[in-house]
Amino acid sequence: MKVIALIPAAGAGRRMASGCNKQYLLLAGRPILAHSVSLFENHPLIDWIFIISPREEIAFCRTEIVLKNRFAKVREIIPGGVERQDSVRNGLMGCGAAEDDLVLIHDGVRPLLPPHLIEPLLGRASEKGASVVGVPVKDTIKEVDANLRVTGTPDRDRYWQAQTPQVFRYGLIREAHDRAFREGFRGTDDASLVERMGMPVEMIRGSYRNIKITTPEDLTVARAFWEEDRG
Ligand code: C5P
Repeated sequence: MKVIALIPAAGAGRRMASGCNKQYLLLAGRPILAHSVSLFENHPLIDWIFIISPREEIAFCRTEIVLKNRFAKVREIIPGGVERQDSVRNGLMGCGAAEDDLVLIHDGVRPLLPPHLIEPLLGRASEKGASVVGVPVKDTIKEVDANLRVTGTPDRDRYWQAQTPQVFRYGLIREAHDRAFREGFRGTDDASLVERMGMPVEMIRGSYRNIKITTPEDLTVARAFWEEDRG
């Protein structure tokens, strides 16, 4: 059984307003994406890595990320799609996994994942089929209607923020994505596609530091976390 990491990094980064794709912005002198890939390059349980990049950036990604950092586990850079779900599906179709392999999907813009979470995620997914990392919500959640009138306040104890990595048995996530594609369903993460098939997904408590860098404020926060941990 192989363990394959898919790193979607094909977003356009419009919210960052930097002119440069957010995954190439620097954190501690290194592109964010290089930090994210190195988490898996350095983890003994990961066999192969596939990066998913916009087609027109594949050559740049190969030179600036894979070759410069000598990432030996990166097998290929796969072209992404219009939305994240399309990019992940391209990755699933192009990674050459077998039915029982494990596929770990991790956003290229989450460079601060604590590496000790990788092993329990893989363990749980190999037992149960699917696992995700997340944290309990801290704020009170309000439900609102189209006019922004509050219509409810769900019990906060039952709500968690889902992050990545999300890990799946390949056969399961491939079927979930194929079904969603056929039925025109759009989810905001990969686990939701498995959930809608009625299959179980296990939550593992992660870290509030595992932020997704999508706006300039996120980069400021990421730099502060980096300094505090390693500076
Ligand atoms: O769009 P969002 O900020 O949720 O992106 C999460 C991750 O998905 C990022 O690493 C981004 O590069 C990736 N993505 C992708 N293909 C897209 C859109 C986003 O691989 N079309």
